[in-house]
Amino acid sequence: MNRDLVELLRSSFKAEFKTNPILAFSPGRINLIGGHTDYNNGFVFPAAIDKGIVVAIQKSDTNTSSLIALDVNERYDFSLESFSPISNGGWKNYVLGIIDEIQKEGKIIEPFNLIFGGDVPIGSGLSSSAALENSVVIGLNELFQLGFSKKEMIFISQKAEHNFVGVQCGIMDQYVSMFGQKDSAILLDCENLNTSIINIDLADYEILLINTNVKHSLAESAYNERRTTCEFVMSQLSVKSLRHANENDLLLIKDKISEEDYQKVLYIIQENNRVLQAFEAIKNNDIVHFGKLLFASHHGLKQQYQVSCEELDFLVNYAERSPEIIGARMMGGGFGGCTINIVNKNSLEQYKKDIAKAYNEKFNIICSFYSVTLSEGTRIIQSN
Ligand code: GLA
Repeated sequence: MNRDLVELLRSSFKAEFKTNPILAFSPGRINLIGGHTDYNNGFVFPAAIDKGIVVAIQKSDTNTSSLIALDVNERYDFSLESFSPISNGGWKNYVLGIIDEIQKEGKIIEPFNLIFGGDVPIGSGLSSSAALENSVVIGLNELFQLGFSKKEMIFISQKAEHNFVGVQCGIMDQYVSMFGQKDSAILLDCENLNTSIINIDLADYEILLINTNVKHSLAESAYNERRTTCEFVMSQLSVKSLRHANENDLLLIKDKISEEDYQKVLYIIQENNRVLQAFEAIKNNDIVHFGKLLFASHHGLKQQYQVSCEELDFLVNYAERSPEIIGARMMGGGFGGCTINIVNKNSLEQYKKDIAKAYNEKFNIICSFYSVTLSEGTRIIQSN
């Protein structure tokens, strides 16, 4: 967590609202493997990172509540008595969605002021959205002593995204952003939230994120469409989630569904298996096998699940041709954002130069690089 960011939020709040705030931090996340399996009650293998969102919050002494997004210098004043989703409202809908879900739980909150800022790049597939949701819900929980458990809070965050933002996301991002652990990744079973936590030590290799710096506009609608497809095939298979289907079951209904839907669901079944294999590979220090699974995951996301894009594919294909990279895949919902790469430490700097040049020549876009430290989840930094 970035101490300068915390101090910036503290001082900005004091300057604006003349009082000392409660401060909360919530991290972004990476996902080693397990793309789009979470909303099918399957397995994912994410980790919280040291970048995220800091929220400063305190009671207001008027009837108005004010929200300020420091990074974009935007302010929104509203009344807790009447608010609704804002079309193209961006960050505002995440915050308002949290308030709405808290009120639906029958809890009373009073007018408050909130400022947030972060160092997790928006739209990069590092889940700045879950970081914002979780930091707001934990901040409100602390300020008004609402008594929610961390588990209750992640479901509030998820429902805010469903109901106010309109993305029917799974539980992975909110879970790992809340419960992340230092130096570790979490094998999460999204059916029952059982976890196995494992220390990540990649020996001669390290994790490098490369941001395509593109976000194609169909991302949200395509995400919800994939979820609908999965639910449709699930009903054809008569299982309570795709987690409970195998390749043979799917073959039996192949002629009842389109080839495209067949491939999408086949991907989900295969990806669930890859996540479990990846966990075993890490346990056995078999980094090479782990890397191969990442490449296989990307090909499935691209060809079968169809959530990749030209820019992501370019970065992963480049990695596949480079001996110093043993695995890479797109990360997050798709259609832009970051790839995750497992890179030999000795070649890291040269690789960054080479791929940046190649990417710029191809798309005329500068890509960005992030090295990550796996870190603890959401927490209160300063209480009242
Ligand atoms: C987004 C969603 C998650 C998950 C990923 C894809 O990050 O918020 O729930 O579905 O996409 O793995």
